[in-house]
Amino acid sequence: MASSSAHLRHPDPSAIADAATLLAGGGLVAFPTETVYGLGANASDAAAVARIFAAKGRPADNPLIVHLAAADDAGRVAAHVTTLARSLLERFAPGPLTLVLEARSSVPQITTGGLRTVAIRVPDHPVAAALLERADLPVAAPSANRSGRPSPTTAAHVLADLGPLVDLVLDGGACPVGVESTVVDARGPRPVVLREGSVTREELGMSADPADDRALAASPGTRYRHYAPSCEVVVAASGDAAATSARMAEAGRRVGLLADDDAPDGVVEVVRFGDAVELAQRLYDGLRRAEELGLEVVVVEQVPPEGVGRAVMDRVRRAAGELVADHR
Ligand code: TXA
Ligand code: MG
Repeated sequence: MASSSAHLRHPDPSAIADAATLLAGGGLVAFPTETVYGLGANASDAAAVARIFAAKGRPADNPLIVHLAAADDAGRVAAHVTTLARSLLERFAPGPLTLVLEARSSVPQITTGGLRTVAIRVPDHPVAAALLERADLPVAAPSANRSGRPSPTTAAHVLADLGPLVDLVLDGGACPVGVESTVVDARGPRPVVLREGSVTREELGMSADPADDRALAASPGTRYRHYAPSCEVVVAASGDAAATSARMAEAGRRVGLLADDDAPDGVVEVVRFGDAVELAQRLYDGLRRAEELGLEVVVVEQVPPEGVGRAVMDRVRRAAGELVADHR
């Protein structure tokens, strides 16, 4: 770990200043946000952004979120900040909400995956906020994992996936939310949810029923298999997970459990959670740990599709390979 710890820094003011200098010079800096760690580069520097795509192994048509220090900076990358966007920014910025708006022509095509729209977000995390303020740049930052891997919620996850490919990792500890931001198309008069996340439909003033989810096709990232550990993921009904895992263990499989319940004999307790908020915080770490333990299968107990539970179940189902629909 000596070589990777060399660029892992506690986010004190001198590390923040160095990170800002790296960004200005075309470098890659991984930093914590309230949702997951991001892999940042100057959004206006096409060569720096190309390094993000190379490090992640990310398809070129999957656009990046541009992170801003303040809602007032939206006009730096968005050509038109709609009335809806203004009101959402007023209510949710800083916070785990990403808005898709018409892009300024100055935003490089590589940042937007070739689209004429740009996604913006003002993260609510002291380290991200300090970095963005100091750098005074729009910072393109996808989750700091290899493409197709669970998103990183600790600096160790970032190092495991990307270690030598990142110039600096700011270690801000575990991310408090644990699942990614909600992505909303804010170009029209009403919000359209492109990716479920930690801001809920209810908080957005929408019905909990995603009747308009065919709009998911508009978010390129939802086309790809995501959040996939190397072991099989099985979703169990609430109250049924422990018994399901016990049957698998009896059949001779190396099985782990993520549930609101004790693990039966012969089953590895991966995450014992109390509610959806706690599962959100610990899901990605649990999936990575299950992999490290060499488990063949993990059983995840379903949480109710309310609040952050919707986003959590979206990610669990993707990890289970259930939501790999090709929307093209
Ligand atoms: O919480 C988060 O959103 C984290 C932290 C680091 O901010 N970032 C994140 O980025 O999850 P990423 O790249 O892993 O996911 C961004 C999602 C993808 O599904 C992408 O397709 C979508 O946002 N997206 C980005 N720009 C878009 C655009 N112009 N139109 C539609 N969808 C867009
Ligand atoms: Mg991602």
